[in-house]
Amino acid sequence: MSLDNLLGKKSKHDVLNSAGLLLVPARVTIDEGYIRLLEQHHIHESEILIMGERAEAAPLSTAALVRQAAGYSKQLFDQVKSENRLPLDEITNELLPIVHQVSAHPDVFQLFESVKAKDEYTHQHNIGVGVLSTLIGKWMKLNDSDLTLLSMAATLHDVGKIHVSDDILMKPGKLTAEEFEEVKRHTTYGYEILKETAGLDPRVALIALQHHERLDGKGYPNGLKEHEIDPFSRIVAVADVFHAMSSKRPYHEPLPFHEIVNEMRKGSFGELDPKVVSVFLKMMIRHLIGSKVKLSDGRWGEVVYINPHDDTHPLVKVDDKFIDLSQARHIHIQEIVV
Ligand SMILES: [Fe+2]
Repeated sequence: MSLDNLLGKKSKHDVLNSAGLLLVPARVTIDEGYIRLLEQHHIHESEILIMGERAEAAPLSTAALVRQAAGYSKQLFDQVKSENRLPLDEITNELLPIVHQVSAHPDVFQLFESVKAKDEYTHQHNIGVGVLSTLIGKWMKLNDSDLTLLSMAATLHDVGKIHVSDDILMKPGKLTAEEFEEVKRHTTYGYEILKETAGLDPRVALIALQHHERLDGKGYPNGLKEHEIDPFSRIVAVADVFHAMSSKRPYHEPLPFHEIVNEMRKGSFGELDPKVVSVFLKMMIRHLIGSKVKLSDGRWGEVVYINPHDDTHPLVKVDDKFIDLSQARHIHIQEIVV
């Protein structure tokens, strides 16, 4: 289908390329220049929602949905910054349905891959944490209204970053103590923005405030402990940590699968909610069966059996051989192939 159909129309949302670069801003009339730009970046017509038209019936790929949602997130941040107002209707009616749709992807590892931030971090992170928190909420069997609240809070958890400078947020090296103090303030900035939004459940603001608190009291901004931290803030914290580790950042490549699992497990002793981590890892590992994996020695295989007592070291079939990772302790699962 030709993109020329879009000529003279306006997109409801910012259109980004896969690297998060803005191609067409929301509500700007699409002219021939924009059409060429969209073609160059291989954007399909169905990835763009036109103002005054309903969404296309044709299903989008998960990657395209995530890209669309990241575009919304960017637009949302810009709007909060310039108008000091959170467009709650658009978030509820346009953004959150995409977050829910992505979180319903039947293949968990494909879902993880699609929400990984590769280039532009901030907005892909918002959507990633929104999707992963929703997934964990479903795995924890939350009811529909709690799940909606959790998705909203998780997608908006870092909105306070609009008041932290990009130089600090995107600094490749180690932050100075002063810069880190400024980064920490995104929690209180977010709380202030969300608390002022009419019609928004006050718990959404609370979750933004608390998502860096840790059970041992060593988190920020208030050093809260255990049950002082809202249960949904603890879910967002797990999704946040997982997403950061599995994404490419200025200072690290995505961590290998086995390291992510180890780090999450370590975190569940004192920092992260052990129940949330345990549900997340249990469900994730359950989906490992049948997955194609790359091993740390460079070989490729398929997971055929999970050891119930050592679930991160499954039995892997490589060609005609079986490798029991609980015995071959020097070999690890490097990545899941999707
Ligand atoms: Fe954060």
